[in-house]
Amino acid sequence: MADSAIPASAPATAPEATPKPRATENRSTTPVSTRFRDYIASGWAEREETLPEAREQAAYAAERRARISGLFPGKRLVVPAGGLKQRSNDTDFPFRAHSAFAHLTGWGADSEPGSVLVFEPTADGHEATLYFRERAGRDSDEFYANPEIGEFWIGPRPSLAQVAADLALPARGIADADAVIAAADADTLVVREADRAVTDRIDAARAAAGAGADSSDGGATEGDAELARALSELRLVKDAYEIQELRRAVDATARGFEDVLRDMPRILAHERGERQVEGVFNGRARADGNAVGYDTIAASGPHACILHWTRNDGAVADGDLILIDAGVEVESYYTADITRTLPTGGRFSDVQRDVYEAVREAADAAFAIVRPGIRFREVHAAAMAVIARRVAEWGMLPVSAEEALQPENQHHRRYMVHGTSHHLGLDVHDCAQARRDLYIDGVLEAGMVFTIEPGLYFQPDDLTVPERFRGIGVRIEDDVLVTPDGAENLSIGIPRTADDVESWIARLRS
Ligand code: GLY
Ligand code: MN
Ligand code: MN
Repeated sequence: MADSAIPASAPATAPEATPKPRATENRSTTPVSTRFRDYIASGWAEREETLPEAREQAAYAAERRARISGLFPGKRLVVPAGGLKQRSNDTDFPFRAHSAFAHLTGWGADSEPGSVLVFEPTADGHEATLYFRERAGRDSDEFYANPEIGEFWIGPRPSLAQVAADLALPARGIADADAVIAAADADTLVVREADRAVTDRIDAARAAAGAGADSSDGGATEGDAELARALSELRLVKDAYEIQELRRAVDATARGFEDVLRDMPRILAHERGERQVEGVFNGRARADGNAVGYDTIAASGPHACILHWTRNDGAVADGDLILIDAGVEVESYYTADITRTLPTGGRFSDVQRDVYEAVREAADAAFAIVRPGIRFREVHAAAMAVIARRVAEWGMLPVSAEEALQPENQHHRRYMVHGTSHHLGLDVHDCAQARRDLYIDGVLEAGMVFTIEPGLYFQPDDLTVPERFRGIGVRIEDDVLVTPDGAENLSIGIPRTADDVESWIARLRS
């Protein structure tokens, strides 16, 4: 487990975070002689400190903070960004801040590992402060001798004043967070999974203050769980900035799909064509956004029947369908989540088309009922009514579609074991810690964004499936915004009917 950038000057009551063996001794050739250290510390120009205007999302983040503040009067709230996660020795996975931290600060792909946002209770609310490790001056050896954070190694890092102006949020050095963490008591709540080291130190401080845990999960408290729920639920309805960013993510994802289609001749010729698909899409994600929002699924032929096929090491055969489930995450961390199932040769066979259009009909039926006031679970039910009817018509069910749809039966789910929808935003599976009453049993509100993604997966060895269908897997996944009087399909610009998909492929290949 990675530790955080919280410095080693932790309070005496805190357990030491497990040190991360980084094994750099064999590689480091940085001189340590006094002459070298004196020489490299001198002769640098003054840095010009230009303070940016507050970024666009700063006002939105302030509004979100105000709402969370109102829910937890008198509580100190600790929302860490999380630290670097070690991959091996002195290499780490790409850093991504915890989504709650990003939501409340407006800091996305440029955020600093190890940062912590703290809401300190005041007489009439909270004062929020962002603690982070600002860049070191040239009088420290950090800039040249620290491969994890030194500017010679990872590039320019911001000052406290720059970040404070950029995010319109008071900023202090990370060392100052020590005292706040050490002061944790029964009225301190922490987002537990964001940064294990911070959580451990808060648990220790709370225990020392006689504020023991009230659950069996280490030092977890019911207050921590309430905070996690509230932060998840705060994201159920998106604000205007979030919707704009989701549109940008969808647009970039559309470009990624087009890149793949244009490259299909090369993909078909390669023995690991699925990897080529992944590479082309992920190239677009890095070019136009921050990264992919989740591992790209490039599933050709029978691999499409494997719901989360991310191994992507198969060939892409001419005449097969390829299921591509992929999303670009933009710099603000908002991600699209889109699936298209495409005929690699440009035309659907009759049976491929039958399955494809059944799934499309299910998706359309689900979309048709979306409006404020219905329940989230009704979207799934609308899709399932179509799926059950179609598989019954094809003779796959031992009962009628109506009987299969009864809660105690559900035979049709053999061919689509996953749900139809999930909320989408900073996380691909957004708002996951929201209460059931507000999510799966919740009522839709304008501003919610979720997927509609029915599918049919006919496993190659499924004897209940007529032979002509076996090995065909289809999913169609769109990202949907609930509007005041209905819904908007944000990904409607990516062709989705069988005819439109064929025309699209023909156009891109000509
Ligand atoms: N890409 C994962 C999902 O569709 O939920
Ligand atoms: Mn999805
Ligand atoms: Mn998906």
